[in-house]
Formats: sequence, C-alpha cells, structure tokens
Amino acid sequence: MKLFLDTGNSDEIRTASAWGQIDGVTTNPSLIAKERTSFKELILEICHLVEGPVSVEALAPDFEGMMREAREYAGWASNVVIKLPLTIEGLKAARACKVAEIRTNITLCFSANQALLAARAGASFVSPFVGRVDDEGWDGMKLIEEIIQIYANYDFDTEILVASVRHPLHVTEAAKLGADVCTMPLKILKQLYHHPLTDVGIEKFMKDWEGQRQLVR
Ligand code: G3P
Repeated sequence: MKLFLDTGNSDEIRTASAWGQIDGVTTNPSLIAKERTSFKELILEICHLVEGPVSVEALAPDFEGMMREAREYAGWASNVVIKLPLTIEGLKAARACKVAEIRTNITLCFSANQALLAARAGASFVSPFVGRVDDEGWDGMKLIEEIIQIYANYDFDTEILVASVRHPLHVTEAAKLGADVCTMPLKILKQLYHHPLTDVGIEKFMKDWEGQRQLVR
C-alpha cells in the first residue's frame, strides 16, 4: 500500500520525505488555507519535494471552470493530480481530463455508488473519506471493503485512496483490505513507527550493554 501525506505544509513534507516512506501528497483547500505562501508557489514547492503524485483541488463549481483550473495546475508540474469533487460536474470534468491525459483524484466520496461512478468516469484515484463516514455513525472501513469488491468485479484501474484517516487503526484496516493508497497527517504517520515495547526494548538493551561494558573495562 502506498502512503501519502495529507498536508499543505512543506516542512512536514520535508520531514516525512527524509524518513523515506512518502509516495505522494494530498492537499485540500482547508490545508492550503492554513499556509501563508501563495498557492502556486506552495504547489510548485511541494511538487519539487516529492516524486509521486500531488493532489491539487479545483475549486470551480462548474465543468468549464474545473477544466480551466485542471489545465492550469497540470501545467505547473508533471506530478500534479487534479482533485475534483464527486458531483455531476466533477465527474464530467474527470472524463474530459482523462481524454486530455490529466490525472484526477475524485474527492468527497462517501458511498459505493459514488465510487462506481468515479471509476466509470476514468478517475485515476477515488478518495473515500473514512473518518467523516465514521463521524456520522457509519463504518468508513466497510465502505472501503465495498469499493474494493466492486472495482475487482469490473477490473477498474482507478486507485482507491483512503482519506480522512484519523488513527493508525484506519491504516492497518486499509492495508488488510488491500487499498491502493492511504493518505494521512504527519501525526498519524509518526504513530505508525511507535510501539511502547520498542522503546522499552531499546532502553533495556542499552542498560544491559552499558552494565556489561563496565564489568569488562
Ligand atoms: O484530504 C482530505 C482529507 O483527508 C480530509 O480529512 O480529517 O478533514 O476529514 P479530514
């Protein structure tokens, strides 16, 4: 499973890239709004920092506006992927982007039927928001299971990108189900590395080593 960082912060991307586990970045308007740099400069910097896909969201509500944004952002760097909302206009734009050879990530997906439509529109990625599904009292990971089954039935190429990840268990479940990608904030990526027994084990090894070295000296 590929791991993407869900952020608009270049320092976080630098940190995670140095750990060697980042295959791409997803941004969204809320994440970009937190940063103080100009939109274009920030996207160019992020695209330079990571080799993999960088999702950049189009904000226009209509097909023409989405296509204008898609053409512009896709021209900024070869790893830009255009994030489009799961609406009629968004899926129309996804189909046109496919023809124009612009990669897309269909965002704000909350049902298996929406994911079916995204794949039929030729999206490169679909982003089911598992955390927000859980927030509403449904089962976000059950949605991933359904999408995986549907995509396998028809051999769709669209990659399932698990988004709105809130805790490490979402990552484990996504990997167990065989999702293609999981995007997460830096805080959760960091949590994946940690286990209290690893820390206790290192401490004990160091103590034993130091004790033994004293005797030998
Ligand atoms: O990039 C989209 C996404 O991961 C949103 O997460 O936590 O705002 O639901 P969240």
